[in-house]
Amino acid sequence: MENILQEIKDKLIANGQDPENYLKGLKHNRAINYWEYVMVDTLLTLQNPRTDFKDETIFIVYHQITELVLKLIRHELDQLCLSEMQPSLFVEKLNRMVRYTDLLCSSFSIMNQGMSYEDYNQFRLSLSPASGFQSAQFRFIELMCTDIDLLIPAYLRNRVTTETTIEEKFSMLYWQEAGFNRETNKKNKTLSDFEQKYLPLFVQSAHTMKTHNLNNRYKLILPKLNETEQKSFIEALRNFDRKYNIEWPMVHLETARTYLKSKGETKTATGGSHWEKYLHPAFQKRIYFPDLWSATELENWGVEK
Ligand code: HEM
Repeated sequence: MENILQEIKDKLIANGQDPENYLKGLKHNRAINYWEYVMVDTLLTLQNPRTDFKDETIFIVYHQITELVLKLIRHELDQLCLSEMQPSLFVEKLNRMVRYTDLLCSSFSIMNQGMSYEDYNQFRLSLSPASGFQSAQFRFIELMCTDIDLLIPAYLRNRVTTETTIEEKFSMLYWQEAGFNRETNKKNKTLSDFEQKYLPLFVQSAHTMKTHNLNNRYKLILPKLNETEQKSFIEALRNFDRKYNIEWPMVHLETARTYLKSKGETKTATGGSHWEKYLHPAFQKRIYFPDLWSATELENWGVEK
């Protein structure tokens, strides 16, 4: 006890604080409680359905859950890409990202099976032109994971030169396919609203991540690990790539098929993309760590068996 008190006193003095006043203040502190710490009451005010359909609340809450899980992935990526750490910690943190992605994949049944088809197809009409496509965290994650050039579809990649600016690269990214008509040169509202809000931040992130993205970083870390650690490291990277860029897109696409392409008709998505084609991982070929996959694995990326 004495020791701890002395350590606290030393710390306060080192920070230029008066230990006596600090202790007097402590006397008045209310005990911490769960609801304030987790901010439960605030959290539960963040759901604002636009219609009276009961299942719209499930839709909103599940999107919010996903955004929180994406925040956890970004939290690990921030450390992996931007801080110095023991090489062995890399595997630990990557495995956390794998676990979070597993959670996203397994819980997606809440969407696929957990809403009334009829209700969903009514309340979604009031959401256009909003779309999950406009999830900024989803885009930040990809900029942190890989080189921006690898997010450009193969058929455009040969137009990239050393002169191509990051801003120009953004107009070539795979996700432009969801809302940019290359023939008319026009963007739909979902895409243009999204870019108006976030493009400057994406460009800034792409500049920072040019040298710090995970696809660059793992290549620097790998030689510092022993053989066993190297194996676990590569396995964790491959797991994340596969789960995030094939498994999640597939459960998401299956869900879109459930609600938008059953009962004999194909419905237009709220974000207006040619969604059946666009969302398919075999079409997007979003692959963060291509050097870790064989030519056949790359060729068959996301192909349904
Ligand atoms: C019933 C549930 C869902 C359906 C039917 C659905 C449908 C779609 C469709 C059709 C698109 C293509 C863009 C468009 O034209 O709108 C899309 C994109 C997207 N959605 Fe969903 N979605 C659902 C749930 C979710 C959830 C819960 C999330 C979690 C945040 C989400 C995240 C995304 C993302 C990130 C994209 C962009 C994907 C990419 O660019 O590869 N979606 N969604």
